[in-house]
Amino acid sequence: MKNALHHIKESTLDFLRSRFKKGQGLNEANEEMLHLSGISAFFPTKPDFLLFFDLLSPRPKVAETIARREYGDFQTPHNLSKTVCGILEELSPNILIEPTFGKGSFIVSAIETFPTLQQIHGVEIHEPYCWHTKFSILELFVERPTLTRPSIYLHCADVFKFDFHKLGKALDRDSILVLGNPPWVTNSELSTLKSTNLPTKSNFKSHNGLDAITGKGNFDIGEYIILMMLDAFAHRIGSLAMLAKNSVIKNVLQDLPKTNHPISNLAALKFDAKLYFNASVDASLFRCDFGSRKAGQGELACKVSTIESPQSIESQFGWVDNKFVSDIVAYQDSHSFDGFSPFVWRQGVKHDCSRILELDLVDGIYKNGFNDDIDIEDDLVFPLVKSSDVQNSPLSTPRKFVIVTQKKVGEDTTYIAERFPHLNRYLSDNLKFLSERKSSIYSRKSEYAIFGIGEYSFKPYKVAISGLYKKPCFSLVPPYNGKPTMLDDTCYFLGFDDQSQSVIALLILNSEPAQKLLRSLTFLDSKRPYTKDILMRIDVFKVAKHLGFDNVSRLAAQLPGSILHLLTREKWDEFLASCERASQVKPQYALFEQPTTLPTGNVSQTV
Ligand SMILES: C[S@@+](CC[C@H](N)C(=O)[O-])C[C@H]1O[C@@H](n2cnc3c(N)ncnc32)[C@H](O)[C@@H]1O
Repeated sequence: MKNALHHIKESTLDFLRSRFKKGQGLNEANEEMLHLSGISAFFPTKPDFLLFFDLLSPRPKVAETIARREYGDFQTPHNLSKTVCGILEELSPNILIEPTFGKGSFIVSAIETFPTLQQIHGVEIHEPYCWHTKFSILELFVERPTLTRPSIYLHCADVFKFDFHKLGKALDRDSILVLGNPPWVTNSELSTLKSTNLPTKSNFKSHNGLDAITGKGNFDIGEYIILMMLDAFAHRIGSLAMLAKNSVIKNVLQDLPKTNHPISNLAALKFDAKLYFNASVDASLFRCDFGSRKAGQGELACKVSTIESPQSIESQFGWVDNKFVSDIVAYQDSHSFDGFSPFVWRQGVKHDCSRILELDLVDGIYKNGFNDDIDIEDDLVFPLVKSSDVQNSPLSTPRKFVIVTQKKVGEDTTYIAERFPHLNRYLSDNLKFLSERKSSIYSRKSEYAIFGIGEYSFKPYKVAISGLYKKPCFSLVPPYNGKPTMLDDTCYFLGFDDQSQSVIALLILNSEPAQKLLRSLTFLDSKRPYTKDILMRIDVFKVAKHLGFDNVSRLAAQLPGSILHLLTREKWDEFLASCERASQVKPQYALFEQPTTLPTGNVSQTV
């Protein structure tokens, strides 16, 4: 309360001093506040009222509260909540729901914008913010007494424990607007912070235990809250409008066929999150209407514009013929290549211990991340290519090397002590760093365990792409000094035994039809635009047949002379035949293929 009063103007405090007396009872004080602000039970207890009375004079001076990372705390500035409410003006809602109202920016702007409001229901966990909001609303009505005064119910409570379904049922016939800006924090950040600010169903995104391990179970708290709101209100009359990261909006839409919420008129209005929140993330105002979803694709699409020009639609993403795409118009031209890759895309090696397992070769001597000279047997040291290297094709000398302790996931590593004593001493001397690895995938595994490793990792000729870069640039990754080159876990690759096959795959993947398909499928504002799931959708066989040998030969002209000769009619026919054979085993792949993506490692999902 001290902080909240600190933000109130002196003139408002004077006004309040004139309206309250020390000996007043709690009911009388709350009646007066209801009359002034519309807020029910303004003072929950008598001590709250007595504190308020004490604080009215002299004026308190209290510092702002400390950072509240685990609460995803990014308070909306008034100019943004005002702009958003202006955009929604024609909705004329009767009921406003703000599930995490914070300092009340949206509630205040809604009162200013919607004279039709009869009730406001808000929830916020942080008590100082509840007081802040109460006094901001009070001040608004003191300054602008002619504004319509709805009944306001502000709950200082945990949104995950609040019964919104009960509220939804009670608001059967009213026009509802769910408005706000839910917390910007992910469940994995909360687990790093050892925070319990999570819904009880904290693995709600996981399809199975494996997804939880591989990072697919990672989700934004804001996404969970938007889904909670849709669960409680989407069958009623009204709309939802909430600020969210673009990745959250994408997920809500992608899961819509599963969640089956009856919503329509979906839109994402981009805004500058750096400007308003000093957050380096792509974010938008997500809005939709409740209560209807007509059959047909149009209803599963989201229009993209900006809060400055809501009517100028830049693009649309969503579902087309049961496929999820990032650009519906661009997809019309390339949908015929959206299918199933005949070859299995793989993610590179994951080890989460680069200081020990990644080496530089300086004047013929290996050095680790501490710049120590490392004298080990060469057998398990392989050339390594990272995301930043996968931009030029073909790659020549590797910048790094990696110690590959296993040939497949889960392999017993006791053989290292028997066969490679120097390496074993190096690893056991640095066990501390290996056993410090945080991800749960390393628990109950060999201390030397790595992931993203299998027979495929040792294929000599690879075609690779960085999952992190915006441009879908595929590169050839040849072996180095007779050893297959490994990729790190930010990269994806296809592996081949025959160099010609890798060259043909490269030309097809870098061709316009494949590139156009990728452009229509990928969301460039995500941390990792290219994933195994996306790459597996490129039907390389269809693109190859569409292009034909002559066109591919023309594309090959850009390749260095040393590999140009590898593209022959005979090799082309072999490639098509291997695509055909691989396509026939597709059903087995679909049934038995292992995790589609590995954990994102140090590519954290921070705001
Ligand atoms: C991104 S801020 C936005 C606040 C406000 N909606 C606005 O637009 O300014 C998120 C708010 O969620 C609140 N919050 C976080 N976890 C919560 C929980 N479990 N229950 C209720 N509120 C919560 C935080 O305290 C914070 O005020």
